[in-house]
Amino acid sequence: MDNRQIVLVRRPVGQVDSSTTSLVSSPRPVCGEGEALIKVAMLSIDPTIRTWMDDAPGYLPPIGLGDVVRGSGTGVVVESRSERYHVGEVVFGMTDWQEWVLATDDRRFSVVPQGLGLDLATVMNVLGVTGITAFFGLTDVGQMKEGDVVVVSGAAGATGSVVGQIAKARGAAKVVGIAGGPEKCAEVVEKYGFDECLDYRQGGLRQQLTESCPQGVDLYFDNVGGEILDVVLTNVAMHARVVLCGAISQYNATGARRGIENTSMLIVRRGRMEGFIVSDYANRFVEAQTVLAAMVLAGQLRHQEHVVHGLEKAPEALNLLFSGGNHGKTLVEVDESVRLG
Ligand SMILES: NC(=O)c1ccc[n+]([C@@H]2O[C@H](COP(=O)([O-])OP(=O)(O)OC[C@H]3O[C@@H](n4cnc5c(N)ncnc54)[C@H](OP(=O)(O)O)[C@@H]3O)[C@@H](O)[C@H]2O)c1
Repeated sequence: MDNRQIVLVRRPVGQVDSSTTSLVSSPRPVCGEGEALIKVAMLSIDPTIRTWMDDAPGYLPPIGLGDVVRGSGTGVVVESRSERYHVGEVVFGMTDWQEWVLATDDRRFSVVPQGLGLDLATVMNVLGVTGITAFFGLTDVGQMKEGDVVVVSGAAGATGSVVGQIAKARGAAKVVGIAGGPEKCAEVVEKYGFDECLDYRQGGLRQQLTESCPQGVDLYFDNVGGEILDVVLTNVAMHARVVLCGAISQYNATGARRGIENTSMLIVRRGRMEGFIVSDYANRFVEAQTVLAAMVLAGQLRHQEHVVHGLEKAPEALNLLFSGGNHGKTLVEVDESVRLG
């Protein structure tokens, strides 16, 4: 049986296009001693995949030309010659963009909890990478405190929507989102319960922010970088914390990434700005998942998944993140038959 895979054939300049990747067929991998064969069910489409396509320094090496596109996902164990995995288990790990993958000593998977009454897409959203990123970024890196005025960019997205809801649940004085367009902004307030949402596409963001947060921003959770980060820096409160989670506005930059001009406001207001990568918290994932699962089950955490069907659509799905065409967590369903019990 074949293994359909999407490989990187050319480094993109700007957005991914039809010349960036190619759909190829290879023989299905054979399960060796100590390994397990996994049938891929769903891919997590993350903005960082675009950064891995560049030949540039990052927190992981670039994807090699000719290599299967790197990415995380879930799948079901169909054969196991390892004590670690059992046939029928649904597992999460680096599946990459393909239909079949081997779990090996170098490529380990974690077992997805069953019996919570949550479907696979929900688990991949709130209990997956973006939910966990939101949790530790806000509570640990951002040291969120009751009474904080919290601003979140990318507020209608997978990470941002969860950040704002945790901040509300933990007693923020005010939670303000930043998103693109009136429809997304309405979603942020009406669906995710933020107090307000500022539309950066409308222009005048600096003025909108000053009116919304006249006492300044205590905690800014930055998912986008660039100009929006610079604007928020002009309005930070004393001892503000700026959490650098992502810089999606810069991932398709064809020249130098935009520099930040207003860091001196962190001196004036004695603030700090700190970046992080969710894998820094790998040994604490269960802590976040326990809190997030409880919130979902109690109806305190609203979520939305944007599921694109078919492995071959993964490059298109990646581009949705940059056009803002996604609503909630972007996933690609590779095999619809896999279900959680
Ligand atoms: N540090 C970590 O470990 C970690 C882990 C996961 C994610 N992240 C980062 O978190 C951010 C959000 O990721 P996600 O997976 O949750 O994606 P997402 O928010 O679900 O989707 C991306 C959103 O970014 C917004 N966007 C795109 N281009 C933009 C621009 N030029 N200016 C402003 N907003 C723009 C779009 O929303 P609008 O329609 O509102 O413009 C789009 O829907 C990304 O920067 C990602 O790299 C970091």
